[in-house]
Amino acid sequence: MKEVTPISGFSKLSKEAKMEWLIQNFTGEPDTALNMLKGYWHQQPEVQKLHDEFIENTISNYYLPFGVAPNFLINNELYAIPLAIEESSVVAAAAKAANFWLERGGFKAEVLGMTKVGHVHFIWNNDAATAVDLIHLFEDKKQRFFDATDDITKNMRQRGGGILALDLVDKTHAEPDYYQIEVKFDTRDSMGANFINSCLEAIAKEWKSIVSEAQNLGDVTVVMSILSNFTPECLVRASVSCKIDDINEGSGIGNQEFADKFVRAIRIASVEPYRAVTHNKGIMNGIDSVIIATGNDFRATEACAHAFAAKDGRYTSLTHGEIRGDEFHFWLELPLSIGTVGGITSLHPMVKFAHELLGNPSAEELMKIIAVAGLAQNFSAVRSLITSGIQKGHMKMHLLNILNQLEATEEEKKIIVEYFKDKVVSYSATVEAFSKVRGGALSQKSNS
Ligand code: MEV
Repeated sequence: MKEVTPISGFSKLSKEAKMEWLIQNFTGEPDTALNMLKGYWHQQPEVQKLHDEFIENTISNYYLPFGVAPNFLINNELYAIPLAIEESSVVAAAAKAANFWLERGGFKAEVLGMTKVGHVHFIWNNDAATAVDLIHLFEDKKQRFFDATDDITKNMRQRGGGILALDLVDKTHAEPDYYQIEVKFDTRDSMGANFINSCLEAIAKEWKSIVSEAQNLGDVTVVMSILSNFTPECLVRASVSCKIDDINEGSGIGNQEFADKFVRAIRIASVEPYRAVTHNKGIMNGIDSVIIATGNDFRATEACAHAFAAKDGRYTSLTHGEIRGDEFHFWLELPLSIGTVGGITSLHPMVKFAHELLGNPSAEELMKIIAVAGLAQNFSAVRSLITSGIQKGHMKMHLLNILNQLEATEEEKKIIVEYFKDKVVSYSATVEAFSKVRGGALSQKSNS
């Protein structure tokens, strides 16, 4: 590591000057690094400018592959789902599950709620009054919160959303003198983070005035006003079902055995947190990929999903499976707070394309599509785990990554992929095959 002195005013430097400072101070081969960074700039300067302005201190772009899984039948409509992800196998797994369920009635999905929530967290302690007095005052003056947010909520109300409810909650059992105003929102097709936070800040200001005007209650200290990314009432459910006799999934295992083993695997994820985390990670492979492709916030989605998975005090599976008589049922329920307007949805060209591909869905429609992608991903993962094992398919997909790492030529890749058609892929076996191809010991001919 070179010795570097701290820089002041980095954000004010031009993009070129920022790059120059970075490559000179932190890279071994400045010219190579510079060319690489510039190589990822968009060829159209106006599109690059757009990207530059999404965040701060932008020097280049970070690409993720953008794949598509077609043939998703959801509530009798056919979708091609866009997925942005770096991990091999995820898109293939989604496409495989889509085809499997296409022949068995497709996926069903429904939105169970669209309510989002935020809080004004405040401190209050007054010797001359009780929490009941504070709650009375709050209820008495409630209209003032609607008046104070009238300007902010006007457009949202026109679209059918806005503030749904306000409650004063006594939290002193959890933290001394701690109270909150809990506000419920409907933000229609927008994720609504800015809208919610603006409303909460206006509500906090109004509440301070209300309490100080009352004179006998002292003052409240507002600690913070912020939305919650935990949205258990913004909930979606995706499901599949079929007759056990119709499973015929093709790996040689019988239909009843497959169904029993599948449901057992889900129950293991329900009772064993070590398995549940990996199980849910697989679900999030599907969910995050669509979240990212459609320009939504994957950090909020992840935080919320895992909090929901632990809502009853123990981390558990987000999917559920059951055999009912001669039927196999499999479903996912999770909260998803997403938007189809605002943010980068109308700015990022790839995000715009993803929305177009999905028929420019409303937030409710997109919630269903995303949940289905999660369920499909989990179906494929569990299906592989209980039949062939996960590595067979996974390593086949990973083979190209290994060959790219080894800088194999297109011709070499072709020979090696063909070679592994009926063999188990591993890193060492790939290196060995690659050496043989380079050395001429393995050719198209010797493979066949
Ligand atoms: C890999 O990214 C995801 C899986 O581990 C999920 C699972 O085990 O269910 C395959």
